Amino acid sequence: MNASTNDTTARRIMALYLATGLGLAVLLMVVGILMRMSQAGWIRLASVDFYALMTLHGAGMIAALVLCGMGGIWYLMRREVAMSASLALWAYGVTVGGVLLVAVAAAFGKFGAAWTFLYPLPFLNPTWPAWSIGAFLIGLTLIVLGWTVWCIQVLEAVLRGFGGFRGVLGWDAVFRPKAFAAAGRKLPPPQVLPAFVIAFDGLLAATAASLLGVALFVHWLDPSVPLDALWAKNITYFFGHDLANFIIYMLIAQVYVGLPAYAGRPWKNSAVLTLGWWGTLVFLLLAFPHHLYMDFAQPAWIQYLGLGASYLSSVPVAVVTVFGGLLLVWRSGMRWGLGSLFMYAGMAGWILGGIGALLDATINFNVHLHNTLWVPAHFHTYLLGASFLFAIGWVFAMLEVRSPDPTPPAMRWTIGVTVLGGIALLVGTFYLAGAASVPRRYDVEPDPGPLLAGWGSVGAIILVLGLLIATLEGARLWRGLRRAKTSVEWPWSPDAAARPEGGAR
Ligand code: HEM
Repeated sequence: MNASTNDTTARRIMALYLATGLGLAVLLMVVGILMRMSQAGWIRLASVDFYALMTLHGAGMIAALVLCGMGGIWYLMRREVAMSASLALWAYGVTVGGVLLVAVAAAFGKFGAAWTFLYPLPFLNPTWPAWSIGAFLIGLTLIVLGWTVWCIQVLEAVLRGFGGFRGVLGWDAVFRPKAFAAAGRKLPPPQVLPAFVIAFDGLLAATAASLLGVALFVHWLDPSVPLDALWAKNITYFFGHDLANFIIYMLIAQVYVGLPAYAGRPWKNSAVLTLGWWGTLVFLLLAFPHHLYMDFAQPAWIQYLGLGASYLSSVPVAVVTVFGGLLLVWRSGMRWGLGSLFMYAGMAGWILGGIGALLDATINFNVHLHNTLWVPAHFHTYLLGASFLFAIGWVFAMLEVRSPDPTPPAMRWTIGVTVLGGIALLVGTFYLAGAASVPRRYDVEPDPGPLLAGWGSVGAIILVLGLLIATLEGARLWRGLRRAKTSVEWPWSPDAAARPEGGAR
């Protein structure tokens, strides 16, 4: 197979992952709107339906954006290092099979123990049948299996392509910078850092998930075998918190490659950026105890470890990346399009959601914000207002950079205002409700919850309408590309000649 056939296959695989992830996300947005409208009192979902939909929405959305990140990183690494397409398809198939089983458990069995399925809730006086617990657990197991295959494949490729741990971690650039520069050596491109960190940490999280999965299966088959609830909660959040967090760190890889296409200059890796990712590598795994501040049986030192790690896992990479993004754009003669708009706005969403998350991870604030709508507020900000924007920004970047017929400014404004405005209104009402102590996961909320849920529904409807217009515009750009049979190189690579050592195709 020649290089261009390989590239076409790789692009198709990425497109499959992205189309499935984004399609599923938009479908589940409609589910989100139904829940928010029910909380507003506009419609009335029965409690069992509300919690089944909430479980489906949560688990499905996480899986949808994980799929987008998996496809994006797989493609970017495939550009650098040879990787098996069949293995990527296998991981895709198993993951999607898992999502379907979770959907069956929620839609037909009305399994409603939330996407966090915290022991013993799935088994405690359930309103759902025993088979739906099994279907949900098997579904999650398949998702973890697909994820594990992806992690192993990406980790092996990155280590093979970029000089092992020493090369990927930029050891010589950090500790012997002068000798490194004098030898004319180069760090790997920046997108290799998220690929490595997430594949490495992802494997550890998957190991924990497998352990928990076996324990839950045993309890499902023989309820007389008890589990330690605190142990189960620690492992559940070690896996669940990490997986939800991995999403934004995976999708930032698309920004490292996509945004430079509009700025006209490369996003360079540096010792500072690499050091930021060292922090993420370690602290991402240690931040989860901030979900357990209310568990008084948890040893206090673990709580403080969680507090410190929460700050250290996110701040270095977010700050270095966002400043790097600002410098990339500054005086670059930036070409603004829908792709650059979404990726740039997504970086703002990352910072805003990150601040919301760190406030909640701070013990003194957590006492007030724990289990209020502040929690969905911050994670919707960085999942919807950042990660999702990175994913659609990447799709538009692929279309716009090669397009012979760019999006007219009026259309850009319409899409930008509806999508970003809709997100702002939706998450803004979550924050206000959280600050007013409205609890999360209540199908019927106390005041001022219903009023704010009404405004949140308006925001979400505007967002979905904006996405519909964006889809039509994307289809127009795509048709233009096909008609013009454009030969512009993609992915656009300003430093294609300066590949780092070992970075061969
Ligand atoms: C139109 C867009 C969306 C709307 C209207 C929406 C709405 C909602 C609502 C009403 C809840 C329940 C809040 C509560 O009372 O606790 C919720 C929970 C959740 N949402 Fe969304 N959402 C949207 C997009 C997203 C996206 C893009 C993601 C992530 C990729 C996401 C992930 C989640 C998760 C993980 C939960 C928690 C479920 C649980 O508690 O088990 N949502 N969403």
